[in-house]
Order: sequence, then structure tokens, then C-alpha cells
Amino acid sequence: MVPTRRGAFGPRSPAPRTRGDGPRDPQAWARLGRCSPHARGWFPYRVLPHPDLRCVRKRSPREVGHVNTIAAEGSAMEQLLARVAEFLGRPVSPEWENAFRAVPRHRFLLDRIWLRDGHGGYDICDRAAQPTRWWAAAHADAPVVTHVLTEADGTRCPLSSASAPGTVVAMLEALDVRPGTRVLEIGTGTGWNAGLLASRAGDAEVVTVELDRELAERARATLAAVGRSPRVVHANGAEGWPPGAPYERVVATCSVRRVPRPWLDQLAPGGRLVTPWASAWCAYGTAVVERDERGIVMGRWRPGGSYMPLRAPGARPEERPPDTHPERAPAEPTELSPWAVAGEDYQAQFVMGLLVPGVWHAWEAGNQRAGTHATLWVRAENDPSAALVEVAAGTGHTTVRQSGPRRLWDEISAAYGWWHAAGSPDMPRFGFTCGGDGTTTAWLDTPERQLPEPTTR
Ligand SMILES: C[S@@+](CC[C@H](N)C(=O)[O-])C[C@H]1O[C@@H](n2cnc3c(N)ncnc32)[C@H](O)[C@@H]1O
Repeated sequence: MVPTRRGAFGPRSPAPRTRGDGPRDPQAWARLGRCSPHARGWFPYRVLPHPDLRCVRKRSPREVGHVNTIAAEGSAMEQLLARVAEFLGRPVSPEWENAFRAVPRHRFLLDRIWLRDGHGGYDICDRAAQPTRWWAAAHADAPVVTHVLTEADGTRCPLSSASAPGTVVAMLEALDVRPGTRVLEIGTGTGWNAGLLASRAGDAEVVTVELDRELAERARATLAAVGRSPRVVHANGAEGWPPGAPYERVVATCSVRRVPRPWLDQLAPGGRLVTPWASAWCAYGTAVVERDERGIVMGRWRPGGSYMPLRAPGARPEERPPDTHPERAPAEPTELSPWAVAGEDYQAQFVMGLLVPGVWHAWEAGNQRAGTHATLWVRAENDPSAALVEVAAGTGHTTVRQSGPRRLWDEISAAYGWWHAAGSPDMPRFGFTCGGDGTTTAWLDTPERQLPEPTTR
């Protein structure tokens, strides 16, 4: 049987490791929890002792306790900044380093957080019970899930998180915010990113929108507790927030498959929008979109960033099209390795998502059929087409079985063939133009070189 997207992975899955916000699609949480940028090598960032550690005057026990707390916070902050610098491959710019210090991440976390359990799921970390683990998570360059939805079958699906600090800085630097810049953020979550923005741009300049009322209220209170007061709005961020428009910058901290038109309409001429990207195939990449003075809107993609999706109010996991049982279809040989399009090459995954929209994949977890080394399932979101790719144990001989109205693996193979023939261009060479009618046209290198239509690949 075709696996559900959720729960398709297990510890033995060859699916890539995760870095980002964890599973991120209410329709496909587990499937999407694997697209990840990696730290780009070692960066020799020196960790300096915090000034508080240099205190020499003899202090009362109470004073000492206070100083120890400050020292612990100071040294944890240095470690966090060092980790972020290592991820970025360069030091954090002074303006964002100042914001990091002024708006400490740990102040935005709940006492109860969810951390990856190493088996594709999450387990609770309670601050009172596991203070060291909680503190380490608060200062790690990794996302911390703060709210989950527990399904009837016990599966935990993340609904909100404090994003990985390295990714947060990369997005903020790409956004280019200065004092006085008017900014709209979509996806308040804990409020930490809004606090960083407010610290840099000024409280009055920042509007942040959160779908979940409880999260919005909590974020507002936390921001006030650290001395920040951006406008926190409880609303559907897909609509932006028209009363505050126009914005010179728009940043989303949830991923989109296309840029919602209201965000573009509310972006001032000369403005910039930065949003995490996703497709049915893969949640990976960051789109940086500019609106020029004539109103022409163009974007380009950058590697990195893997976020939970922009949710529609009240969205529930979708109805799946009927199962067409590809396992009953005849096996045919295929030249394409499933690892080429569903392995560690996220740029390839990104391109598959662009060229074959609305098609997702999942590695089969757990025991394989006898004689099979690995199995990749491929399914269409909106019709019952499916494909089952099996790699034989020992020989590595790869076969595919396809069912339903479309031959999905043929589409994927053609898309991969096009990308390969084009010299395997990387993400920054891809861009898109947004038309006033809401259409988005993707291209390679220049707007004149549009991507082939699905039927002609
Ligand atoms: C990765 S978290 C945001 C992290 C946050 N910026 C922080 O600093 O903690 C994504 C957030 O987007 C919110 N979200 C998802 N869909 C939304 C929508 N349609 N409108 C507003 N917020 C949304 C989620 O509730 C979640 O809190």
C-alpha cells in the first residue's frame, strides 16, 4: 500500500537529515522534515570570555548567584553566536549581533518545548525536569518546536517553532533592514524574530502577523517583557496586513509554494520580500523578491531555509486521491537513481519541485520487501497517479512501477534529464517574474529563458 506522507520515514530511511523547522506541511508534515542546508564548513570564530566572567570583587552569595546567571547567559550567547558564524561561514554582522544580545532567544521559549528524538519524531523537554537539555536547545543552532498538534494516532506535528538561529540571521541579512525600515513579518511564532526586527528597525516600524491567537498573545507579552513593542496582529498572514501598508520589507517565517498576491501588493516600490520556499517535492530554499520603481516584481531563489508552511485557517490534512496500487503494475527498468532526485542534493530536489509541481515523494521506512534495498514512493497530490521505485539488494538494479493517469516517474526522469542537459544549474540561476494577474513564471538565468512546460519535457 502507498504509505501516507506522514510516518513514511523511519530511522532506517535513507531520507536526508533535517535542519530547519522540522516537518512543515499540515498535509505532509513528516515528508517535509528533511530538506536541509548544511553548515558550510568550519569557521574559525573565536569564543571570547564574557566580560561578566572577569569580575574580581568579592560578592555576597546572593550577588554571586546573580552574576553566575548573567555569566551563564553571556557565555551561552557567545557560544550561540559562534555556532551561527560557523553555519554562515562568516561572523554575524554587528547590527544583528547587537539585536541577538538585546533580544535573547531563550526568553521567547516556553518551559515545555519539543526536541527531535532521533527517530523521526519529537519528545518533550521540560525546563524544570531537564534544565541542562532545555538550556542547550535554547542556545543551539537548531529549531526549537514550541507548539505541536498531536494527532489521534499519537503523531506529533509541529505548528510553531523558534527557527534555527543561523537561518534566521541569513534571512535577516538578506532582508536588509535598517533603522526606520517599515517591515511586515508573516508568522510571529514565539515573537523572537519580530523582536530582532524591532530592535533593528524600531518598534513602530514592525508589524508581525500570526494565525494562532494564543501564539500572538503570548508573543506580544514576551516582547513586552524584553522591552519591545512591535504591532502583533492575530490574522491570516496570507492576506498581509493592509492597514500598515506599504512596507519596505516583507519577510515570511513560514514557507510558500507561490508568493501570495497581497504580500506583493503591500510591498512598496523599491521594496524587498524574503520568504522560505516549498514545493510538494521539497521544502527548501529562500526566495528573495524585489519590486522595482515601475512595479515589476522579480524574484530569485537562494539555497538554504526549510520552514513549516503557511497554513490556511482551519486547514486539516487533505483527502488523499484513491490508491491506484502501483505495486500491482508491471516493473520496468529505469535509468534514474532515486537518490539523484530524492537524496542529499537539495538543488536537484528544488528543481524537481519546480518542474513537476504537485508531486511528492517518500522513502519507505522500515523493512523492505525481500530482495529490495530501498523503495521510493511518488504520488500526485491532485490525481491518483503513483509510482513505486525499487532498488534491488546486491545488484542495485532499479525498476519502477507506475499507475494512474500520469506516468509520474517518466515526468520526473524527463525533468531531471532537462536539468542535467542544462548543466545542472544551481538555485541562484533560477528566478521568477510575478505578473499583475497573480501568475508566476519561472525562468533560468533571464526572464527570456522560461522553463519548459510540463507536457513538453
Ligand atoms: C517557524 S514558525 C515562526 C517562527 C517565528 N518567526 C519566531 O521567531 O519564533 C511559523 C509560524 O507561522 C505561523 N503561521 C502559519 N500559517 C500562518 C498564516 N496563514 N498566517 C500567519 N501565521 C501563520 C505558525 O502558526 C507559526 O507560528
